[in-house]
Amino acid sequence: MCGIVGYIGHEDTKEILLKGLEKLEYRGYDSAGIAVLNENGVKFFKEKGRIAQLREAVDVTVEATAGIGHTRWATHGEPNRKNAHPHQSASGRFTIVHNGVIENYEQLKREYLKDIELQSDTDTEVIVQLVEYFVNQGEIVEEAFRHTLKLLKGSYALALLDEKDTEKIYVAKNKSPLLVGVGDHCNVVASDAMAMLQVTDQYIELMDKEMVILQRDSIIIKDFEGKVIHRKPYKCELDESDTEKGTYPHFMLKEIDEQPFVIRKIIQKYQDETSGLKLDDDIRRAMLEADRVYIVACGTSYHAGFVGKQLIETLAKIPVEVHVASEFSYNMPLLSEKPLFIFISQSGETADSRAVLVKVKEMGHRALTITNVPGSTLSREADYTLHLYAGPEIAVASTKAYTAQMAVLALLAFDTAKQKGIALDFDPIQELSIVANAMEVLCNQKDEMEKIAREYLAETRNCFFIGRGLDYYVSLEGALKLKEISYIQAEGFAGGELKHGTIALIEDRTPVIALATQEKVNLPIRSNVKEVDARGANSCIISMKGLDQSGDRFVIPAVHELMTPLISVIPLQLIAYYAALHRGCDVDKPRNLAKSVTVE
Ligand code: F6R
Repeated sequence: MCGIVGYIGHEDTKEILLKGLEKLEYRGYDSAGIAVLNENGVKFFKEKGRIAQLREAVDVTVEATAGIGHTRWATHGEPNRKNAHPHQSASGRFTIVHNGVIENYEQLKREYLKDIELQSDTDTEVIVQLVEYFVNQGEIVEEAFRHTLKLLKGSYALALLDEKDTEKIYVAKNKSPLLVGVGDHCNVVASDAMAMLQVTDQYIELMDKEMVILQRDSIIIKDFEGKVIHRKPYKCELDESDTEKGTYPHFMLKEIDEQPFVIRKIIQKYQDETSGLKLDDDIRRAMLEADRVYIVACGTSYHAGFVGKQLIETLAKIPVEVHVASEFSYNMPLLSEKPLFIFISQSGETADSRAVLVKVKEMGHRALTITNVPGSTLSREADYTLHLYAGPEIAVASTKAYTAQMAVLALLAFDTAKQKGIALDFDPIQELSIVANAMEVLCNQKDEMEKIAREYLAETRNCFFIGRGLDYYVSLEGALKLKEISYIQAEGFAGGELKHGTIALIEDRTPVIALATQEKVNLPIRSNVKEVDARGANSCIISMKGLDQSGDRFVIPAVHELMTPLISVIPLQLIAYYAALHRGCDVDKPRNLAKSVTVE
């Protein structure tokens, strides 16, 4: 995880870096730092905690026109000031910020840096010490930088300052996201375009194993052999206002509210006036040729994968398996003859998913990525991409990306069915329009959700979510949302499974939130609720109009049975939000987490 920024130009560098880091804070927020360079050398500031704390520590009188910055999610070394970036070489000449993991840092330390006392517990420090080591051996800085890069195993997006050269920032990328921004007599580098929209909307994508020498008026991209690479910038379509909270107290609430618009945007982007849906012919072919689909994802995206399985199997009649990315390689299933892999990832950067993508590509299989970030690593490295069009999702807890993932999977499933000539009594565009309207109704019932959160979750230490069929998958997501932002121990269960063990945990007033939106399991799930009620649970049934019964705590509008996860999740997102709020938790930046998980 972590995010890095760099700037070289004529403006107030420290302010540009701090603003950039504020936009990247979603990538990690346990410590942060900046280093700025002027004729008097490098000055750096770092703090444990958030960017706001760093801002307070920065000396406002320091003037500089080049600098680098970092916001951290600790991988190696405790999150403290010592391990916060930037890190410096022994003499203080070189200063570095780094996102990624250097796998062979112990070995490099033993081999080259025996005589140097390292100042931190991080893998990163080895990089900056190596650059200085090779410079001390007589190499010029660019050579020493390249020499170091060639020795590194692992992932990195990094930027390096040389105190003796105020005109350059050395940059390199491998497996961690990094973009170079082209400004007017200034240039920038950042883990995400969002961070530098204040400076430019023109970006150049960097590929793995590329380095850049960044100057005010030039950007020289080279491979590790020193060969110059020419690449044109593209215009980043992001609007700076997409990255602001506006009048909302939290990004999570804003993003929950954006869901109806996202669904309408997906309809608009994928609807074709003539033949129904606009999908790439190559994706269509890949779906038609697949004898089995393997969905690979993590966390919330994994939960969307289960709904995707149901949609693809029901509509397109292709068998689907859903796998947690971090388990896939160690527990590889027996693959079918013509598998198609679908990677679902909001960020498109999740290292666990990428590791599987690399593996299956090596095996010669085809892969489709469904992501919110089309230029992301998973998008670039897969054969095909489907875009979610959800706009930047900044709150760590995923909401609008999850519903967008399910909407796009519904379109893919329907389109495949159509290509296969399967007659369906299901018009996804119409059903998604109904979903968008229902989402709007639910987003306007926040008061009720706040009451439920207060009534059921104010005091509790744990909570169970239960459902059957599609409701079970949404229960998993409801539990994940609640635990990650409110720290209440929450678990999602298949309603029928409780009696096989978990029911032992039900005590007097234990909250059990049950979903009842599926006709075929409406009665069985209600029996499961009776079972927990008999043991003292404080149950809360959320049902769908038409299936509701007296005593249900909340009724959601009716939508097509296959579309229920897109709306039944909204009360659960809002309940989690208010539960976290009541408990005084940091809703947008829950402890120990980061938005984009770029370590395995
Ligand atoms: C939970 C959440 C995570 C992500 C997971 C995968 O709210 O956001 O569980 O879903 O880390 O991330 P992506 O979708 O970016 O691959």
